[in-house]
Amino acid sequence: MLRIDGCIDELRKAVREIRNGGAGIGLVPTMGYLHEGHLSLVRKSRAENTATIVSIFVNPTQFGPNEDFDAYPRDLERDTRLLEKEGVDVAFCPAPGDLYTADHSTFVTEEAVSRDLCGASRPGHFRGVCTIVLKLFNIVGPDRAYFGEKDFQQLQVIRRMVRDLNLPVQIRGCPIVREPDGLALSSRNVYLSASERQAALALNLSLKKAREQFCSGEKSAAVLVESVRKELEKEETLRVEYVELRDAADLSLTSKVEKPVVLALAVRVGKTRLIDNTILNEVSS
Ligand code: PAF
Repeated sequence: MLRIDGCIDELRKAVREIRNGGAGIGLVPTMGYLHEGHLSLVRKSRAENTATIVSIFVNPTQFGPNEDFDAYPRDLERDTRLLEKEGVDVAFCPAPGDLYTADHSTFVTEEAVSRDLCGASRPGHFRGVCTIVLKLFNIVGPDRAYFGEKDFQQLQVIRRMVRDLNLPVQIRGCPIVREPDGLALSSRNVYLSASERQAALALNLSLKKAREQFCSGEKSAAVLVESVRKELEKEETLRVEYVELRDAADLSLTSKVEKPVVLALAVRVGKTRLIDNTILNEVSS
């Protein structure tokens, strides 16, 4: 595996050489501190492309001033070893100064899909995500790019950006990977104390319960949302930020489950913000 720590020209040269070999290129953008969720994206990319590039970059522009940019967990040496073992071709690990000049002044703003849910509580977050993802697409020129469905809104915002800006890349979403007890994998789980982690199990449990209600015939958004809220409120240490049921394609409001929908939530457990979701009424492919 080639590890390129910052030099964009060096990465572009590596990509040119890979492409000259006729390879389809898969890009897995990450912020590092890799877990099985990230590795599932890597494996899907390896299965669908002849070369896989993984970027590791904690992107400052997607963090608000009072968010956890400085505290965000980092372990580049461990990440490198994991990617090496997975057979990744290139790990691109820039520093903020490699991607943003001090007078950087161009940003990408998606104005519909990114507005509510996490967009409402994290102003500027998706602007930062779109900007860095477009920059990575421009640097790497991947044929396919891989994102987890845990960040479901992020995935749909990126799909919209790719559609609206005619970007020549296929976006692949990959299912949430969970711990055996149901907690969705997240680099931020490392912040949780034992009791907070226990309380966080309510996220998946509440979604599972609503899914069961849906499977028994409940189609009302209000009832399903209320059911999730009630379950979450049983855990006194959780603070619910939002529970919403939205059209899965464009995240518009919907009062009834008729098309595929996402039941999505964000909560705070102590100082940690966690998100989770489940897709209902999914069209099987
Ligand atoms: O999902 C993430 O880890 C980040 O938001 C991403 C897509 C790598 C952009 O920084």
